[in-house]
Amino acid sequence: MTSTPTTRGGTRTPSKRRLSDVTKHLSMPSGIVAHGYPAVARQCRKMGVVHDDWQQALATAILAKRANGLYAAGVGGVTLSTCRQVGKTFTIGTIIFALCALSRGTKVLWTSHHGKTTDETFESLVALAQKPQIAPYIRKTPSGSGKQQIVFTNGSRILFGAREHGFGRGIPGVTVVVFDEAQILKAGALNDMVPALNTIKNPLVLLMGTPPDPKDPAEVFKARRRKALDIEQRRAKGEKVASNALYVEIGADDDPDPDDRRQWGKGNPSYPDRTPEASIERMRELLPDVAAFIREGLGVWDREVNGTRLITEPEWAATAVGIVPQEGVKAIGVAFNLDGTRVSVSGALKHADGIHTELIDARPLTESGIGPLADWLAERKDSVALFVISGRAGADALYLALRERKVSKRQIHLATTVEYTASCSMLHDAVRGRTVTHPKAPAGDMLDASIAVADKKQRGQNGAWGWVATTPDGDETPAEGISLALWGVRTTKRRPGRKRSVMTA
Ligand SMILES: Nc1ncnc2c1ncn2[C@@H]1O[C@H](COP(=O)(O)OP(=O)(O)OP(=O)(O)O)[C@@H](O)[C@H]1O
Ligand SMILES: [Mg+2]
Repeated sequence: MTSTPTTRGGTRTPSKRRLSDVTKHLSMPSGIVAHGYPAVARQCRKMGVVHDDWQQALATAILAKRANGLYAAGVGGVTLSTCRQVGKTFTIGTIIFALCALSRGTKVLWTSHHGKTTDETFESLVALAQKPQIAPYIRKTPSGSGKQQIVFTNGSRILFGAREHGFGRGIPGVTVVVFDEAQILKAGALNDMVPALNTIKNPLVLLMGTPPDPKDPAEVFKARRRKALDIEQRRAKGEKVASNALYVEIGADDDPDPDDRRQWGKGNPSYPDRTPEASIERMRELLPDVAAFIREGLGVWDREVNGTRLITEPEWAATAVGIVPQEGVKAIGVAFNLDGTRVSVSGALKHADGIHTELIDARPLTESGIGPLADWLAERKDSVALFVISGRAGADALYLALRERKVSKRQIHLATTVEYTASCSMLHDAVRGRTVTHPKAPAGDMLDASIAVADKKQRGQNGAWGWVATTPDGDETPAEGISLALWGVRTTKRRPGRKRSVMTA
């Protein structure tokens, strides 16, 4: 740690900023023992390119290596979220120029979503390639549409193309892939291109983009961010977490004053030295609204799109049913939230063809709320095999209230943390395996809304996790309630109305 009290970015220009001085979120790959950057930096200097301090730090992280000599972020990839006009194309472009010059036959794919962005990037890198100290390394720069390339004298080449035009599929022998505009990238397009890397010993995949607009199909970008932030949080608590990916997010504070120059500096480490005030002002004028400026000009992710989901929309839709089964073994899951201010009640029914789950109700809980809830549950005790309750804040009180209402001990189960986390992964697995259903509901359904923002939150060291709502007003209890009900109906051996258990599993 340096002793300088550095405010991230800020208006002051420290003599040498480390990566963590300019990042808002940073998740490094583990196992770094060697560095690829010094050789790249030497090659860059020969080409007349000198990286700024934060660019050096970024390049060092990207090119860090493990003991086996492979890139530490080679498997999980590099993800970079920044504002516009920060120097991304320059930094990544010059690193790639050096890699191309250093090892003959390097093949790079540089894709953007839009054709227009691809053209702009190609032009700016061709301009760079024409600099007197770089030109001797370059053989040609063919520019026909769909054929844009920078070809090096040693046989290395960079191929440019737009994903919206289907560029990049099935190109063999690729060493490096750059996905620019990574906020517009569907999993399909990523999967189409990544196999090209499988036969390469030391591949590098870079995703770079700006925080997504709510309309952008940003699943890939969001999922990588979600994973990285989770790792970052766990490491902050002192947990040792292995990772094979690098995530770098540079951005101003949340909810920034869009005119505050300090925030401009935090959002863009090249301001004001490289990116002049005028470029940022221009961006502000060209972008449709302040929200877009905060995203694209300052690199800040929207709170609304901060929401992430583990169960994907297609997975959830595939398990929705119009006709609800009626006959079978029933369990009820009751989930209290952390502070006991909300509760949800859900049911699961094990029928001949599988298991059906439903949210019965989710609501805020007032002091008097346990009584009516217990009444409602106790009325159903003859038809329900098991009541599974979780959430320390309300579970004990509900247990007592049910016992007072003559619900038998054996019929009430207070889920332990281990059982609770098991129920959460059980729901996830069951949805993915299509062995559980839920009602097809109209827009605005509370269960759909909960699943839409419910994501993994690590609980403990061994990979166990529970549901967490990823938006400020999101509610995880419906997702938890159906998980508990599902777990209950799967594990109970009780059959209401029968004296002995007939179930074996
Ligand atoms: N270390 C450097 N040395 C020289 N020029 C630099 C350096 N860093 C950035 N620049 C210059 O800053 C300008 C902006 O960089 P660049 O085009 O790479 O930004 P960008 O983040 O890709 O922008 P956009 O989001 O618009 O695509 C370019 O003119 C580039 O040459
Ligand atoms: Mg660019």
